[in-house]
Amino acid sequence: MQLLDGRALSKKIEIQVTADVKMLKDKCGCTPGLAVVLIGQDPASATYVNMKKKACDRVGIYSITHDMPENISQDAIEKVIQNMNNDSTIDGILIQLPLPKQIDERRLLDLVAPNKDVDGFHPFNVGRLTTGLDGFVPCTPLGVMKLLEEYNIDVKGKNCVVVGASNIVGKPMASLLLNANATVEICHIFTDDLKKHTLNADIVLVGVGVINLITEDMVKDDVVIIDIGVSRTKDGKLVGDVDFANVSKKCSYITPSPGGVGPMTIAMLLSNTLKAAKINAQERK
Ligand code: GUN
Repeated sequence: MQLLDGRALSKKIEIQVTADVKMLKDKCGCTPGLAVVLIGQDPASATYVNMKKKACDRVGIYSITHDMPENISQDAIEKVIQNMNNDSTIDGILIQLPLPKQIDERRLLDLVAPNKDVDGFHPFNVGRLTTGLDGFVPCTPLGVMKLLEEYNIDVKGKNCVVVGASNIVGKPMASLLLNANATVEICHIFTDDLKKHTLNADIVLVGVGVINLITEDMVKDDVVIIDIGVSRTKDGKLVGDVDFANVSKKCSYITPSPGGVGPMTIAMLLSNTLKAAKINAQERK
């Protein structure tokens, strides 16, 4: 069994992004800029936003966090997004999810200019991904693909079972795998017999936030496991969706959680922001 070390790969990517950011600055005086919108006091969201900000600092990306009160109105937050769309110092806009109940998430995500949509959540970019065209791809599934590539795990013709059908992870993950010629199944909360599907998988990719959802009896020998889940146990420990201690004995490759997919998500945000800055610099010429 080999660990898929997202921490190590994300460091490698950060070195490359740092060099590219410097090159862009030297060439045209442009500093890539990321605006992060955080609404309310959710502690997990605040931690993620802080990690993203620190990562920007490490690679030389300018970042600004808009801390908004929990009870902000739809109109007020839409104005903030519109201002960022029109701000030439901002190349990427990220709205940290989940949002408070009174906010219409879809309307807000649709308002982000597609060329600043570094999360890849705008229908324009979702459409480009499903069509196999270049665009902005959601950071977590993109990070998973980079991790598989780094370890020369070719998904072509493999049976890939994605567990979880969210817009952020499961659906774009399935699109990326399909674009890479994998055979893809998506399982979700209404799937009748999850084990029946996972037992047939060469690669299981799971991101639902249920501790120990995937156990050793549910996977075949030499399976590749990508654990995208993050949950906190009662004693405060961070864990994924996979019973790592037992499942790892049967795997050819497995991501640790934490230390697998998480760091890759942040690395892909940096790389998407750099990509946006390069496109915007070209367009300003
Ligand atoms: N909340 C959980 N994951 C994500 C993500 O990838 N992007 C954003 N914007 N919010 C999230």
